[in-house]
Amino acid sequence: MTSLTNSSAWRALAAHRDELGEQHLRELFAADSVRFDRFSLRAAGLFLDYSKNRIVPRTLELLTALARDRGLEAERAAMFAGRRINTTEGRAALHVALRNRSDTPVELDGQDVMPDVREVLGRVGRFAEAVRSGEWRGFAGGTITDVVNIGIGGSDLGPAMACQALAACGHERLTMHFVSNIDGDHLASVLAKVDPARTLFIIASKTFTTIETMTNAASARAWFLANGGSEAAIPQHFVAVSTNAERVAAFGIDLANMFGFWDWVGGRYSMWSAVGLPIALYVGRDNFEALLDGAHAMDRHFAEAPLEANMPVILGLLGVWYRAFFGSTSVSIAPYAQALARLPAYLQQLEMESNGKSVTRDGKPVDTVTCPVIWGEPGTNGQHAFFQLLHQGTDLIPVDFIAPLKPSHDLAEHHRLLLANCIAQSKALMVGKTADEVRAELVAGGMTGDALEALVPHRVFPGNRPSNTLLLPDLSPRALGALIALYEHKVFVQSVIWGVNAFDQWGVELGKQIATRIAGELGGGAAGEHDASTKGLIAAVRAAH
Ligand code: F6P
Repeated sequence: MTSLTNSSAWRALAAHRDELGEQHLRELFAADSVRFDRFSLRAAGLFLDYSKNRIVPRTLELLTALARDRGLEAERAAMFAGRRINTTEGRAALHVALRNRSDTPVELDGQDVMPDVREVLGRVGRFAEAVRSGEWRGFAGGTITDVVNIGIGGSDLGPAMACQALAACGHERLTMHFVSNIDGDHLASVLAKVDPARTLFIIASKTFTTIETMTNAASARAWFLANGGSEAAIPQHFVAVSTNAERVAAFGIDLANMFGFWDWVGGRYSMWSAVGLPIALYVGRDNFEALLDGAHAMDRHFAEAPLEANMPVILGLLGVWYRAFFGSTSVSIAPYAQALARLPAYLQQLEMESNGKSVTRDGKPVDTVTCPVIWGEPGTNGQHAFFQLLHQGTDLIPVDFIAPLKPSHDLAEHHRLLLANCIAQSKALMVGKTADEVRAELVAGGMTGDALEALVPHRVFPGNRPSNTLLLPDLSPRALGALIALYEHKVFVQSVIWGVNAFDQWGVELGKQIATRIAGELGGGAAGEHDASTKGLIAAVRAAH
């Protein structure tokens, strides 16, 4: 295959970008009466308005031509067919099988994985219901009131984000806690709040070797034993989610209480597997299955819709468009839903750990820029913090606005104002405000002369700043499942265009290796070979202890 930027599809896009120039979105809307209908679509219950993007119909034609040229359709088929597309680890990426709600088998090396998937899902559901109903008891005979999930990265972010998002349907007796950081503050602050006799710990780690999780798990176990628990009671209070039975058993967890998954489930794609146990515990088996249903609906859409009307494909291609041809280095995620406060953090791992790469699948340097920085905060809070920069800063930062149409509470007035702000921000970014409009406003306010002219440049908004708006019917498990699957597939689409492997994460290894060595030195081990800065910092830490 020709290199990406040498391909005729890419060169056609570059030329098209030059032609479009700085044409303003105001003009594009004025010139096309059906722009909103043309550039919006529904899928899996979600509605996407992408009309406020710096595109014309030809842009989409060229972007989808690029996707075809890069073999997106074949790559998509390969993922769904269980091919080992994660080549550096020799693994498939079959998260779609975890939410395959059809009777269609999903084969890996000629074997249907669905019986195993259903078996674990059944165990997860039964266990969750036993805890929720009160049948599962702690060592003193009480029901479980607190669940502490100990995990990090993909073994934390998905369940933490989803439990917060779905709190409206959470079990009233259960309080969910998520401990991820190796900073002892994190675990200590949770342990200070819970009763060992009524707490269930979930040790979630695909590998069961991750230093943060193993350290937190060992400390939680010691705390349990020191606070009334006993070795005999460990199975009632500690369960595991992992692919590593040997290490789970060595930790002292009864394998009957281990919920497994498989190497073809990447950490950041794992909330649909047993990693979702906290979600099932909190919102119940039926709601967890509704989450899977929503994701499955988005999977079907991604697999079957033509590229031109395919929501993940469109989102992915728009991201490529801004990154390569508008120099935008970041994307802001603005959920207009406080319950989605952890969504930006979740998407940071999903997008940046997947596509933060600079070599292609065949080990060559990429020849264009890849994953942008993903960041964000819920609206309306963000409006009073960083939106200034989005509106008047020097960078072009595309925004994804995400809002549920129906609230999960009964404060209707709040929701009306929330949605008004969401729509207003995307409009303001798009239309901006010209100098003439500013002048007219100031004159109407009674200002004239030099004072007026001095103020004008400060009050001008360039506009022409792109955004997508995603409307969810509500913050139901089904809608959330569809939303997360949408972003997963968007990331996949971009990985295919950029030619990188979205499913490995070698970039996290070096720091881990060095930390292990430095931890030994901080513990009194022999000093290693270091640069002057690292040496000086180690000495400063040692001197303080
Ligand atoms: O940060 C690296 C990483 O491997 C992530 O990909 C993963 O989600 C996280 O660590 C946790 O890994 P594990 O579930 O094996 O503890």
